[in-house]
Amino acid sequence: MIKVNLDHSSLKTVELDNNKVKQIHEIIKTKSGAGNDFLGWIEWPEAFNKNEYDQMKKVANSLRSKIDILVTIGIGGSYLGIRAADEMIRGLNHSDKIKIIYSGHTMSSTYVAQLSEYLKGKKFGICVISKSGTTTEPGIAFRTLEKQLIEQSGIEKAKELIVAITDGSRGALKTLANKKGYLTFTIPNDIGGRFSVLTPVGIFPLLVAGINTDNIFKGAIKAKNNLVQNDLTNQAYKYAAARNALYNQGYKAEALVTYELQMQYINEWWKQLFGESEGKEGKGLFPTSMVFSTDLHSMGQWVQEGPRKVVFETIIKIQNPVGNLSVELDQDNYDGLNFLAGKSFHEINSVAIEGVIDAHVNAGKMPNIILEFEKMDDEQFGYLVYFFELAVAMSGYMMGINPFDQPGVEVYKQNMFKLLGKPGIK
Ligand code: PA5
Repeated sequence: MIKVNLDHSSLKTVELDNNKVKQIHEIIKTKSGAGNDFLGWIEWPEAFNKNEYDQMKKVANSLRSKIDILVTIGIGGSYLGIRAADEMIRGLNHSDKIKIIYSGHTMSSTYVAQLSEYLKGKKFGICVISKSGTTTEPGIAFRTLEKQLIEQSGIEKAKELIVAITDGSRGALKTLANKKGYLTFTIPNDIGGRFSVLTPVGIFPLLVAGINTDNIFKGAIKAKNNLVQNDLTNQAYKYAAARNALYNQGYKAEALVTYELQMQYINEWWKQLFGESEGKEGKGLFPTSMVFSTDLHSMGQWVQEGPRKVVFETIIKIQNPVGNLSVELDQDNYDGLNFLAGKSFHEINSVAIEGVIDAHVNAGKMPNIILEFEKMDDEQFGYLVYFFELAVAMSGYMMGINPFDQPGVEVYKQNMFKLLGKPGIK
């Protein structure tokens, strides 16, 4: 579950636009708005292909017995959700035998060379992901690592260790995989990259990582069934309407703030979801993010005393931590911290959250939207994905743009092709 709390924002006394929410709810429900051919994510948590899911489970299990490392190759929507889920659910120092390493999201020759060096002699597999099948970054990363895998394990064995996730019938990656005999799973046509983490894009690598994806779907279904109201009692709409009201008051940016280090990539995934969906036609809140306490010691100063009415904060508050250690009593007490002995880390973190909210909102005049999350696990991940996807649909339509395309991203992709001399591109 996610609960939206506006008690700490200047919106406490401002009326949110319930009528507009109701109108847009109808547009979403009847699929009659701009970009309506990309609304497949609405039914997906229940409508996904069960046969393909069973097959993914089998392939993932078999892959788990053959490798120690899964390299996922992809960028944007074909990368961020996997990392967000893996880090939130398994944590940063998990003990599962499979490690996921990411590639295809950078063309840094240093990164690619170091990764290639690291993989030498190791048992690794590749999951290459591209909806279009033509994106340059994952394309060239795959060429390099595919060659290395073939050299290390032989061409026949490599076929068992490479899986491609792409369009069901079109694109260069689909053709390549068919020709070379690599197994493929399908990204549905009606789900855009940044909405695709619950499709094979995210589900297959997460299965290889040993994550309980049934629970991810359970959480997404719960969200789908909970977030059905046509008004501001719908928490996803309440969040969308609140950020929209602040945008209309002149705020330019929203910072998503987490106090959980392993949710840093939730922030990154959220930035793509909101940035690519809303930044159009000269409109849109600039999505940025911070991880506290880390950033309290860098950005905290700016947040407290920098220019006002530029950025507001949206704080993720976790009710129940996965583990909860307490501070030990120390006989010597040289550090003077015995006053904290017996208190749990979560208790101290929660006090920090309250103290920071008070400082930022009351002294700093910075609106804070609070999103209360139950916990940090597979089910909550599924829930939050659906929550934010529904929120961005509402929020984008409230701003009057099509939240489901990304014409700006295409411009740079085409420019790169032109400058690098891709045949047929002028
Ligand atoms: O949201 C989007 O569609 C893009 O940002 C894509 O996720 C990104 O460009 C990767 O595209 P593809 O999966 O086609 O390689």
